Amino acid sequence: MKYERAKTYLSQRGQSHLLEYYDELTEDERGLLLNDIENLNFSVIKNINKQDAKKKTKLRPVPTATLHDIARRRMQYEAVGYKMLEEKKVGAVLLAGGQGSRLGFDKPKGMFNIGETRILSIFEQQMNNIKEVTDKTGRYFPLFIMTSFKNNEDTVKFFKDNDYFGYPSDRVHFYIQDTEPACDFEGKIFLDEKYRVSQSPNGNGGWYSSLINGGLNRIIEREGIEWLNVYGVDNVLQRICDPAFIGATVLSRCNCSAKVVSKICPEEKVGVLCEENGKPTIVEYYEMPPELAKKREKNGELTFRYGVTLNYLFNVNALNATLFGKLPYHLAKKAIPHIENGVKVTPEEPNGYKFETLVVDMVKLMGSCLAYEVERDNEFAPVKNMTGADSVDTARALLKKNGVML
Ligand code: UTP
Repeated sequence: MKYERAKTYLSQRGQSHLLEYYDELTEDERGLLLNDIENLNFSVIKNINKQDAKKKTKLRPVPTATLHDIARRRMQYEAVGYKMLEEKKVGAVLLAGGQGSRLGFDKPKGMFNIGETRILSIFEQQMNNIKEVTDKTGRYFPLFIMTSFKNNEDTVKFFKDNDYFGYPSDRVHFYIQDTEPACDFEGKIFLDEKYRVSQSPNGNGGWYSSLINGGLNRIIEREGIEWLNVYGVDNVLQRICDPAFIGATVLSRCNCSAKVVSKICPEEKVGVLCEENGKPTIVEYYEMPPELAKKREKNGELTFRYGVTLNYLFNVNALNATLFGKLPYHLAKKAIPHIENGVKVTPEEPNGYKFETLVVDMVKLMGSCLAYEVERDNEFAPVKNMTGADSVDTARALLKKNGVML
């Protein structure tokens, strides 16, 4: 894009300030800035005027494969799941593009050492969990790892330096998630440098579109992969490509499925898988009306009790069919470093918005979702914080309980 065009283009969108320092820039810097401007998704900014959370009214509990159902049909589920794995119809996607700000660790979260007397990174622990399945099938499914432009280099190097934790390197495919601009509360896009527009990773809902933009769908098509097991980096007890989960999902004929755990109390901060107007939906803890969160069945169990663990299976055909069904943007209020009066400032308090789409919203687009219950003490140990709930401390305790030597 040429300077004159950028000037008109920005002035029509109320963003002329992005060229404020243009005269001071070198030729190379000007090129970078004009390129950023050309590639910006300005339409995302309109979202700041939209009402964020809609009131949830017509919620119902979702039909669920409970622990009891699964115990009864485990052999059947596993037989189907192993067959799918042996026929190479399943791949996995690790979501590792987050910033892990609550943990306060300055490297990618997966590099965090969860060990006590030995080094055991979160990445290594999760790769060990994968071995449970690959040792049995003797087949290595493709593992796609989504990083962000901020943590890609460190992540790729860490895997390489650790010899991919014993996984064949040609089965590991990294890709960088797409970005959206960051702006102030009035919608003015920030400059990160005088010659760079401020951008941030577009949330974990960007995992499939970013995978396609990175050209990795070619691998999925070439290998005939039908299901993708998408999981977060946080959970150190995560079971990946779990055959029974795959089998139950395939047999359910749903377009996707989610591993869920029973909530420990109405206030637990997890998204709950529900049904709304006959469609699956994940209601975040802050969107759930308190009277529904507390509601109990006659047997004392919470009516809306199944919290999601960020472990999903998505059918690839259904993903392709819904790809252009737009995911809503969520506004994350953040402290965003930016250029102000010619110098870089790093605010302490939130000063603007980042725009994120969320994987939980994909479930609704998919139209049908099997809730698949797992034992929380065996499969749910998220590392969000250093101490307290969902922390390094709680995850270590659960790892030990599951026989992992730390
Ligand atoms: P979280 O919602 O916990 O966000 O991510 P976060 O950025 O990692 O952590 P906080 O909120 O700053 O403390 C849940 C999962 O989604 C991935 C994370 O890496 C994690 O596996 N994620 C999140 C992405 O891959 N990309 C994103 O843009 C955001």
